[in-house]
Amino acid sequence: MERTLPPLALYVHLPWCVRKCPYCDFNSHERTGELPEADYVGALLADLDAAAPLAQGRNLASVFIGGGTPSLFSPQSIGHLVEGIAARVALAPGAEITLEANPGAAEAHHFRGYREAGVNRLSIGVQSFQPARLRALGRIHDDVEARHAIEHALLCFERVNLDLMYVLPGQTPEEAEADCEIAVASGATHLSFYQLTIEPNTVFHRHRPELPDEDTAAAIEETVHERLALAGFSRYEVSAWSRPGEECRHNLNYWRFGDYLGIGAGAHAKITLPEGARREARSRVPADYLRRVAAGDAVVERRQIAAADLPFEFMMNALRLTAGFPEKLYAERTGLPLGSAEPALSTAIERGLLARERGEIRPTALGYRYLSDLTGLFLQG
Ligand SMILES: C[S@@+](CC[C@H](N)C(=O)[O-])C[C@H]1O[C@@H](n2cnc3c(N)ncnc32)[C@H](O)[C@@H]1O
Ligand code: SF4
Repeated sequence: MERTLPPLALYVHLPWCVRKCPYCDFNSHERTGELPEADYVGALLADLDAAAPLAQGRNLASVFIGGGTPSLFSPQSIGHLVEGIAARVALAPGAEITLEANPGAAEAHHFRGYREAGVNRLSIGVQSFQPARLRALGRIHDDVEARHAIEHALLCFERVNLDLMYVLPGQTPEEAEADCEIAVASGATHLSFYQLTIEPNTVFHRHRPELPDEDTAAAIEETVHERLALAGFSRYEVSAWSRPGEECRHNLNYWRFGDYLGIGAGAHAKITLPEGARREARSRVPADYLRRVAAGDAVVERRQIAAADLPFEFMMNALRLTAGFPEKLYAERTGLPLGSAEPALSTAIERGLLARERGEIRPTALGYRYLSDLTGLFLQG
């Protein structure tokens, strides 16, 4: 049977930040001196040259330039990058091109230039509008800079996402509500609201801050969900809320188990090839990444996804979506019949964790609440 290939996306990682935040375990490194912008963009494009044959003539439906703090790069460098990407792998008409920005004043000066460089969606890392919470998170921007950055972003971009976090050290439900009010009134078209997690290998893991107790955390979550829904945002994924039609197409492709190339330090890729689905990971340390690209191959891990792992991998992504997935998507994306997800599928339905209706499978409210237990059912062995 001829396989229909999923949409193809491209993730580009820019790994530097001004200062490492105490809660962050992303592949981000404190900038020391001038950034090697030109060398790094050159390396990204050489990396893409090496990866392009995997695209097999397919178009890019979306590009996501993430970090780290991509907005430390000049609009000229981002222009060179976007142009170089389009010259190597064609962009689909209307392709979504997102760039992650921090709200500092220096970054905001870059916004118009990014738009002119072809970026058409901006994602701003606000985290909170409360000065005390921003300090507790070790952020280098304040609430005034955040508001200015959003105002300026909306003059340059029609599509703007704000990243916010909740259940923060010292946070009250009233503060979380105030954050929601400001975010929904700001004009942003998309909100990513993440519950703060204490990750291994972070300062917060070594020096744990005092977090709201369980009851307060539950009240904060309830407040956030209520306020966002009331303001007309729909929750379409665990942490993603959008105005109608404003979902992040790049992230939707991950959750629908689509394909993506990944370039830059520590970037990951997942791609459907005639022999099966493959994952790749690139070297995480910027200097090592640059050396490896110069030597012709930045990939440090290449592996085929075993057929036995596909049911879990698909469900781990697709069940994050509140709407779940059409039954036929399972076979399209995994190359396996839906029966390969049995007996977990029937067990989840019997336990009231999944609903199967009119050719669609979606998590119930109970399944969504216990999502890791639900997806865990699909682990083999
Ligand atoms: C990779 S960061 C990059 C964005 C940008 N550098 C910034 O910090 O504004 C993307 C988002 O992940 C979220 N994030 C990072 N660490 C987190 C954690 N430990 N728990 C919850 N969300 C986290 C933050 O909201 C952050 O904006
Ligand atoms: S949260 Fe953002 S700014 Fe802070 S270290 Fe992580 S990537 Fe950098």
